[in-house]
Amino acid sequence: MKPYLIAPSILSADLARLGEDVQRVLDAGSDVVHFDVMDNHYVPNLTFGPMVCKALRDFGIEAPIDVHLMVSPVDALIEQFADAGANMISFHPEASAHVDRSLQLIKDKGCQAGLVLNPATPLSVLDYVWDRLDFILVMSVNPGFGGQAFIPSAYDKIAALRALIDEKGLDIRLAVDGGVKVDNIGAVAKAGADMFIAGSAIFGKDDYAEVVSQFRQELSA
Ligand code: DX5
Ligand code: ZN
Repeated sequence: MKPYLIAPSILSADLARLGEDVQRVLDAGSDVVHFDVMDNHYVPNLTFGPMVCKALRDFGIEAPIDVHLMVSPVDALIEQFADAGANMISFHPEASAHVDRSLQLIKDKGCQAGLVLNPATPLSVLDYVWDRLDFILVMSVNPGFGGQAFIPSAYDKIAALRALIDEKGLDIRLAVDGGVKVDNIGAVAKAGADMFIAGSAIFGKDDYAEVVSQFRQELSA
């Protein structure tokens, strides 16, 4: 297993003061900026494009940026986000006509490549692309909105993926996104995840450092 990463989702950040708020959550001890991109087509909501990612870099954000594409099609935005300073880029297999090509495009642009599995997406979408993956992102809510409740079937999916990754001896990070809170992050880690994306649980509190340290406490228990 890789060291645990905590990735605040900026969907729940103070969007009128995005740069300051992202810096504040990083100073609070988080590791990675999770950047949710929604297009009102693949999901019924609309968020930020590559210009906002570039603006965070220009503002001075140095932490890795993990771009979660909830858009269709994906290829043009992969290129633009890589150029805008993304480090990790993931997309939903249902949103690309050519999954293998899109993964290769992410790697060609020098970023880590990931596939995102919706709650009802079977693990078989990973067949034939295992060697292309740097990470897998398990959705524990249906994509489109922050603040939803964790869907419990994600535990079995995480455990099944952890077993497959270990059995294959692959160096693939396993991230979980949606409804992660202080009271379930320990169970999510026990199931086998090593990256924890959380929006409302962190940005919904005044003291980000307190939440991040509660997360770490749960992860070390
Ligand atoms: C949902 C997004 C998530 C979401 C997480 O479509 O991909 O990253 O913002 O937010 P919480 O932690 O509030 O469920
Ligand atoms: Zn996300």
